[in-house]
Amino acid sequence: MKQEVLLRVNGRDEKLFLEDADTLLEALRDHLQLWSVREGCGVGACGTCTVLLDGRPVSACFILASRVKGREITTVEGLGKEGALHPVQEAFIEQRALQCGYCTPGFVLTVKALLEENPSPTRAAAAEYLEGNLCRCGCYPDILRAVEAAKEAKD
Ligand code: FES
Ligand code: FES
Repeated sequence: MKQEVLLRVNGRDEKLFLEDADTLLEALRDHLQLWSVREGCGVGACGTCTVLLDGRPVSACFILASRVKGREITTVEGLGKEGALHPVQEAFIEQRALQCGYCTPGFVLTVKALLEENPSPTRAAAAEYLEGNLCRCGCYPDILRAVEAAKEAKD
């Protein structure tokens, strides 16, 4: 059955009509056309669909949209200010921390959350925090370099 769901996405209130079983991933992609939120495994195991929920990374494929009414949801489209990229996005470009780019939005959001929780993580701590995000292109060393670069940009 469809119901009205008010979601707060990237600082805006969005009124959607969703099926009870619609996931947050479906709401963001199919109803709001936020294409950065990508489906990989679809079962909460790869991190490709990561978004921030009240600042913490979560798998959007594994959460019902109706369960996150009124909570603050952030996708990559909501990063950066006045046309400028977010420092984490800049660091990924600078360090060439992507190949196909499919996993990149999820990694960027997870790194943002990491640096907000711990502004100066060790390489091991960063690797552990990023464990839930998989990169099929194997860009892990470059991604960890991007964490270092983003960390310095914030210092
Ligand atoms: S698509 Fe959501 S965790 Fe893989
Ligand atoms: S850059 Fe291709 S999956 Fe990560």
